[in-house]
Amino acid sequence: MGWLNDDVALVTGANSGIGLAVVRRFLAEGARGVGVLIRNAAQADSMYEEFGDKVVVTVGDVRSPESNAEAVDATVRTFGKLDTLVGNAGVWDHFASLRRYEGSTLKATFEEVFGVNVLGYMLAAHAAAPALRETRGSMIFTLSNASFYAGGGGPVYVASKHAGVGLVKQLAYELAPDIRVNAVAPGGTVTPLKGPQALGRENDRLSDIPGFAETVADAMALGFIARPEDHTGHYVLLASRVNSPATTATVLQSDCGWEIRGRPVRKKAQ
Ligand SMILES: NC(=O)c1ccc[n+]([C@@H]2O[C@H](COP(=O)([O-])OP(=O)(O)OC[C@H]3O[C@@H](n4cnc5c(N)ncnc54)[C@H](O)[C@@H]3O)[C@@H](O)[C@H]2O)c1
Repeated sequence: MGWLNDDVALVTGANSGIGLAVVRRFLAEGARGVGVLIRNAAQADSMYEEFGDKVVVTVGDVRSPESNAEAVDATVRTFGKLDTLVGNAGVWDHFASLRRYEGSTLKATFEEVFGVNVLGYMLAAHAAAPALRETRGSMIFTLSNASFYAGGGGPVYVASKHAGVGLVKQLAYELAPDIRVNAVAPGGTVTPLKGPQALGRENDRLSDIPGFAETVADAMALGFIARPEDHTGHYVLLASRVNSPATTATVLQSDCGWEIRGRPVRKKAQ
């Protein structure tokens, strides 16, 4: 018996990084099946190769209301219900600072990053709410250390992830008592998280930044950089009706201690 026995989930941005690790973990916890919304049709085959009929793939853009509705319909049609929405697809701004922008590029970057990181979550919530109300299920969003602190990106990304906290609280308020709404906030994690097209960074991966993993590991209180699978237990906990029935409007931080980063200076024993 797993913690999510017979549950059905829908995960956006599920073909890599944290989303893929969540799909693997939910199925390992006994989920009946997982719907996935992914952007690139070429990635559908690898999802079916790994998970077979335990997944149903919808190809689309999280900024599209139709793609989100289609993903919910495909999940419910295939697996009979929906217990958990995991809004996870995201794009990062590669630390683009305010002074580096032309005005028009800033506008385009804002629209792209907020479109994916904020509107994408709202549209997924809107599409999934009716099915989740029927099962008294829950929503879980992937936020970030950048939801609380400066320095995890430039102003556009950090503002988008701060907006996610407001979204979680407002949705939790509006959808109670039927649907619990929570989030997981990972810190720096080794993934191929990409940049915005508006900055010409759509093929640039966070994990390819020279020295990124070492720099993050060195700055963190726990002294390592997380792997995607290090966060998945939090999603399982929040999805589990048995283990977190009283939890809503909560963000679980999974960031190796961002708030207390910097190591204490320890005196040598005399
Ligand atoms: N990697 C980190 O250090 C880190 C830290 C904190 C938070 N996060 C957050 O974790 C989440 C997952 O990112 P990840 O690090 O696993 O990177 P990732 O690139 O592996 O995953 C992001 C996914 O979102 C998808 N996506 C992007 N734009 C999309 C769109 N318009 N429509 C549909 N899908 C789209 C990508 O194809 C990809 O599958 C993001 O919300 C990110 O902001 C990542």
